[in-house]
Amino acid sequence: MKSSVMRPLLVVLTIIGLTSLLIVSVSAGTDNNVKQIKEYTPSVSPEEYERRYKEFYGDATEQMAEEGNPGELMLDDGEELFHTVDGSKGKSCASCHGEKGKGLVGAATTFPKYDPELKGIKTLALQINICREKNMGAKPLKYESYDQLALELYVKSLSNGMPINVSIDGPARPFYEKGKAFYYKRQGQFNFNCAICHVKYAGYMARANLISNNRHHADHWPSYRLKWGEVGSLQRRFRGCMKNTRTKPLPYQSEEYRNLELYLTYISNGLPIQVPGFRM
Ligand code: HEC
Ligand code: HEC
Repeated sequence: MKSSVMRPLLVVLTIIGLTSLLIVSVSAGTDNNVKQIKEYTPSVSPEEYERRYKEFYGDATEQMAEEGNPGELMLDDGEELFHTVDGSKGKSCASCHGEKGKGLVGAATTFPKYDPELKGIKTLALQINICREKNMGAKPLKYESYDQLALELYVKSLSNGMPINVSIDGPARPFYEKGKAFYYKRQGQFNFNCAICHVKYAGYMARANLISNNRHHADHWPSYRLKWGEVGSLQRRFRGCMKNTRTKPLPYQSEEYRNLELYLTYISNGLPIQVPGFRM
């Protein structure tokens, strides 16, 4: 993956990347006002980005795919859980949504979405726990626990290959705007925001990593990550990037993260869902 031949190149790109990041963080002003967000334009053309991406990753992802995704094991466990009775009402998910989740094929493509009862954004993870409590009389699953991720992964996989189709119309709109504001809000010891890396400097290096643009950030979760050695959620990745930039991470399914998930998923509208993902 990161062969020794690539080392000198990485060092050079790292220096270029970090220098540019420093320049930007000095020159850009702060604006927390929702209505005044100026979106960044990428500093690298789409073609050049593709070239750097290929150069950096080579055929690493194809090789990983050949060896198999360990996330598939969790997917099987998720399917079993879906058909397992739990809670005071004596039901399984399949009791209402059908054997092999027939009734939920395509459902994940519209999440996250606005929910009038929550008066906020309902993620798929939240929906599953709502069903457990309300419809099964079962305890909600702890976010990021094995069973919670397995069930979410299974429900998501019922939409594999189908295009993401998230709505920001009507009451969802203000929450989308808040998610976007969060993405552009400068935070933490380094005073970074998400967009500076994933929009403006996508294609540059941050330490030994090539920074990706946000186009494909929401289409492959839950994902198996080599660095974690296990499957995790998109929100776990939010927390990781916040820690890396010395910003205090927020709790799973906090209002901020649900809005952020809506913002990022909307950006991926039209891309097919592909779970479990596989990342370095
Ligand atoms: C007693 C019946 C019942 C059980 C059991 C049940 N659900 Fe549901 N589920 C519903 C109903 C009714 C809705 C739609 C209204 C709502 O949100 O409550 C729903 C909605 C959903 C949706 C959103 C569908 C969409 O198109 O927006 C998902 C996903 C879902 N359930 C997953 C699950 C999972 C996973 C389980 C098992 C942990 C489960 N449900 C258990 C009745 C049930
Ligand atoms: C200093 C630059 C930097 C900042 C700031 C930053 N990230 Fe990242 N992020 C990275 C790097 C490097 C990676 C790993 C390589 C890559 O981009 O996929 C990454 C990965 C990710 C991924 C996984 C992408 C994938 O395809 O699996 C997501 C999602 C993400 N970041 C979201 C965020 C969010 C949300 C914020 C703001 C809270 C943020 N990042 C802030 C550099 C940054």
